[in-house]
Amino acid sequence: MPVATILWEGGRPGHVRLIDQTRLPLECVVLDVRTVEEMFACIRRLAVRGAPAIGVAAAFGLLLGVQHLDERDREDTLGRVREMAAYLAKSRPTAVNLFWALERMAARATRDYGTGAGIIDGLFAEARAIFEEDKAICRRIGAVGAELLKDGCTVLTHCNAGGLATVDYGTALAPVYVAKDQGKTIRVFADETRPLLQGARLTAWELHRSGIDVTLIADNMAARVMFEGRIDAVLVGADRIARNGDVANKIGTYGVAVLAREHGIPFYVCAPLSTFDARMATGAEIPIEERGAEEIACGFGQRTAPEGVRIYNPAFDITPARLVTGIVTEVGLIEGPNPQSVEAALRRGGVL
Ligand code: MRU
Repeated sequence: MPVATILWEGGRPGHVRLIDQTRLPLECVVLDVRTVEEMFACIRRLAVRGAPAIGVAAAFGLLLGVQHLDERDREDTLGRVREMAAYLAKSRPTAVNLFWALERMAARATRDYGTGAGIIDGLFAEARAIFEEDKAICRRIGAVGAELLKDGCTVLTHCNAGGLATVDYGTALAPVYVAKDQGKTIRVFADETRPLLQGARLTAWELHRSGIDVTLIADNMAARVMFEGRIDAVLVGADRIARNGDVANKIGTYGVAVLAREHGIPFYVCAPLSTFDARMATGAEIPIEERGAEEIACGFGQRTAPEGVRIYNPAFDITPARLVTGIVTEVGLIEGPNPQSVEAALRRGGVL
């Protein structure tokens, strides 16, 4: 098991325990999160991050906001559920799993008949299902993706789409973990992923402690290691995928995809169907989070840029579908994604 990123502790009432990912790799601090406001702050400040983990955190956050409302009547409870969902939906804009999980919870609340207590019972079951499904889905993504990895091959990854970004095995790192379980030797080059260094702080941390051969590089070295012939495949995660297969993922992913194409290296995106947004025709519609200037100007605990200089800090970029060799999902590989193949996969998975 790589790491226990997030879990619900106790029954009802209970609270959430999650690894504060802002403290890694220096210390592995587990936070007890007891209120919806605390969960909002954890998502916003990236204590919990990565699209699937954000979805689980949102579902659990909603529970924190409603679990004590047993005595309320049905309408009152539904109103509170909608209010909490709308509040949590403002925590971050790009990873669609946040909205997917909140919509799923709100839909469950309206579907269940009965009193406030009955609705809350249903929400507990739904959040538990989202949590358990994430584990199973990551394992399936791992199994599908592992078939793409030959024994002895080397993978390059960007950001962190591992256990820390999900409940369990991750998305982009799941094929690596499954391949290892199958007895294959897989090496990983991890981009450090400026500005917040998810690759250095999180991917290198979790792979290293899982016994996977990982080599950390600065982002501007990806071209060099590809040129040197060291990389057999690129595996990345996704925050949102449009209907045509365009992929939003951590800033820098687009550049890696361009480099992979130039060097003839397959570029795979690994993501659950919950990361697809059928409402968005192309990546141009996906909202891109902009984060604070200090992440760039003071990223290493000290100022590295002059005071007063203008800074632009988009947290994600869009990789066009034409650069994507395939999308690894729990219902199989979408080769050369396009509107038809994406729709077919979503239908296979019962999403459409
Ligand atoms: O800003 P973050 O750390 O939440 O960004 C995370 C990523 O971009 C991941 O690659 C993506 O969510 C996939 S996680 C399985």
